[in-house]
Amino acid sequence: MNEKQQPRNTEVPRALHAGQRVRDSAFDTVYPDDVRRVSARFWTPVEVAMTAGRWLAGLGAHSVLDVGSGAGKFCIVANLASGRTVTGVEQRAHLIDIANAATHSYGAAAQYLHGTLEVVDPERFDAFYLFNPFGENLYHPDEQFDAEPELSALRYLHDLSIVEHWLDHAPVDTCFVTYHGFGGRIPGNYALVRAQAKGSDQLRLWRKTRSGRAESFTLELDAARAQAPKLQADRTRVTRR
Ligand SMILES: C[S@@+](CC[C@H](N)C(=O)[O-])C[C@H]1O[C@@H](n2cnc3c(N)ncnc32)[C@H](O)[C@@H]1O
Repeated sequence: MNEKQQPRNTEVPRALHAGQRVRDSAFDTVYPDDVRRVSARFWTPVEVAMTAGRWLAGLGAHSVLDVGSGAGKFCIVANLASGRTVTGVEQRAHLIDIANAATHSYGAAAQYLHGTLEVVDPERFDAFYLFNPFGENLYHPDEQFDAEPELSALRYLHDLSIVEHWLDHAPVDTCFVTYHGFGGRIPGNYALVRAQAKGSDQLRLWRKTRSGRAESFTLELDAARAQAPKLQADRTRVTRR
């Protein structure tokens, strides 16, 4: 690594490697003002990204895709906290530039694909992270990040159907984490592995437990409610052992 490639900030990466708490306000200093200002609404909080990254690594995930990676906050934190390679796909070109600069600044191993979901080969990944990536399609224009991509209810449904297709065709053991849900339906052959209140919502870890295509799909909240009692029972059994 020559001098130009040296990470500029070493404190944050060191803390994340060690599993120590890093304040969002400290992490976000790497970003320009306009990106920092919207952090609480659009980017995953550090603590949430740390937990999600570690959950995925704990299930043996090697190659994680952040679907809609924005300014790279999840990718950077998850990589530094879990050691797994993380890739992001992002439709806004200027956010890719900002994500690359932040990734370099923190010395993280994350990479970014510019484009929409159509540029992704889902077979390259065994794990996905979904922080309500398509919700912005349904926001009032004043609430959207900017007016650069064309957003619409039709795009929302289109993108959801692509992710549902990826999940349905994925091999057994593929896993994914949702934060604020992903808006779509969970194929019936995925099990809820963990669920925890984190940040401003629930973090949920799902894993494909049976190979092949699903016979049915259920909205995420309904699938989580149906499976939560089993999760609770498993946890109680483990605690009592
Ligand atoms: C809620 S932000 C989450 C950012 C990042 N995952 C994080 O947690 O820090 C959602 C991001 O997804 C991007 N996005 C939404 N739909 C997309 C699509 N179809 N293809 C690529 N990026 C998309 C948006 O531009 C936005 O940056």
